[in-house]
Amino acid sequence: MEKILIVDDDPEILEVIADILQQAGYEVDQAADGRKAIRRIEDDFYDLVITDLNLPKVDGMKILRYVVDQSPETMCVILTGYGTIKGSVEAIKMGAFDYISKPVKSDEILIVVEKALKFRQLERENTLLKQQLRKKYRFENFIGDSAAIQKVFELIEKVADTDSTVLITGESGTGKELIAKAIHYNSYRRDNPMVVINCGAIPEELLESELFGHEKGAFTGAHKTRVGRFELANGGTIFLDEIGDMSPNLQVKLLRVLQEQKFERVGGTRTLEIDVRIIAATNKNLINAVNKGTFRQDLYYRLNVIPMKVPPLRMRKSDIPLLIDFFIKKFNKQTRKRITGLAQEAQDVLMAYRWPGNVRELENLIERLVILSNGDSITLEDIPESIKGKTAKVESIEVKIPKDGIVFDQAVEEYEKKLILQALSETNWVKTKAAKLLNINRTTLIEKMKKKNLYKPAVGS
Ligand SMILES: Nc1ncnc2c1ncn2[C@@H]1O[C@H](COP(=O)(O)OP(=O)(O)OP(=O)(O)O)[C@@H](O)[C@H]1O
Ligand SMILES: [Mg+2]
Repeated sequence: MEKILIVDDDPEILEVIADILQQAGYEVDQAADGRKAIRRIEDDFYDLVITDLNLPKVDGMKILRYVVDQSPETMCVILTGYGTIKGSVEAIKMGAFDYISKPVKSDEILIVVEKALKFRQLERENTLLKQQLRKKYRFENFIGDSAAIQKVFELIEKVADTDSTVLITGESGTGKELIAKAIHYNSYRRDNPMVVINCGAIPEELLESELFGHEKGAFTGAHKTRVGRFELANGGTIFLDEIGDMSPNLQVKLLRVLQEQKFERVGGTRTLEIDVRIIAATNKNLINAVNKGTFRQDLYYRLNVIPMKVPPLRMRKSDIPLLIDFFIKKFNKQTRKRITGLAQEAQDVLMAYRWPGNVRELENLIERLVILSNGDSITLEDIPESIKGKTAKVESIEVKIPKDGIVFDQAVEEYEKKLILQALSETNWVKTKAAKLLNINRTTLIEKMKKKNLYKPAVGS
């Protein structure tokens, strides 16, 4: 039952209001002066305080201030007589929810009380939801104890509460978006929005209006003024994903936002000022893009204030067992299964695999395995051939070390060359296919071929 405190120096008014509220099912306490009221609020928790402003000893404003400071979950409603309207306006500015004028009417008072309590309930739910979100992205769901990922954690903690721009780089599926969220939800901006926009997924003309909004009539089809993502993120964080795909024209506009926190809507003349923290991410090599001239150097430096490099999963293999365990639990819960773990051979195969799709690929695999598995644990047979195959072949390659030893670096070089040539000949020198066979990037293959002077033999030779 909700508990309400009524404060008034007129015993008759106290009686009338207490009656109305008690009949409506509320628990009611009364206080005849300000000092008593504050003592009661100290001793007990009230969902709502209804108070007159002119009171003996301690006036209503002081009670209100006390509630706002010391019991922020308590709502406050002011009782006003003739001539105290001005005071009620002040009170509302200070944090009172509403006022009721005297003489009080039963239905009016019930409506205001209900509204106030409903409002508080919504506010509570809202905080709760935000807390849950925050928890979700704090660190519980961010797994890894490899030195590499611990370094990322430390950096997140250091920079979260600043306004510095962060540039997150890493291969696809390494957790860039998860990191961006961890930064936002660990920052003082956490109660304001985090707006995510994928710059690579939206065509250039649309992206500009997505980011900055547009005025009515700015272009054909702009029937209404529209607020952009930067405005929506005001007070919070904007996450510009796939920043490497942004067109040169938009790069210029973004640079200005970074420098001045100012922009205009498309087709607009009014300059809007915002307070937004920027986090950008890309799986491209931005320095290469700068050298090639597709990404502005000045923008790169503006974005790269705090660089955060997320290493690929294959460079932090010690995280794999932890992630497997985490994902098994997650999907057990979702699918109501009780998979206990992975057979050793199955785990060995997953440890040896290269994970080109990084954590996302591992997560998807575990989801599939949990759903499809019939037993209580996942066995080697459950692992798809595509993954087993790629690891098994490496193990089956034979090496022989001569009695008098080898020059290690040279031998490795030679061996690499042989592998590349073999792959190329098996694929008729189609580099894309050869790279796939070797499970390396096509560009890596081409670089290695150049370094090792490997060229397709001329026909007939
Ligand atoms: N360290 C981690 N712990 C737990 N889950 C992770 C971790 N890293 C990534 N994931 C999960 O892997 C998936 C991919 O992560 P995310 O979307 O953040 O990657 P990304 O780097 O943004 O990828 P892309 O470049 O493809 O957009 C998500 O479901 C995410 O929750
Ligand atoms: Mg992403």
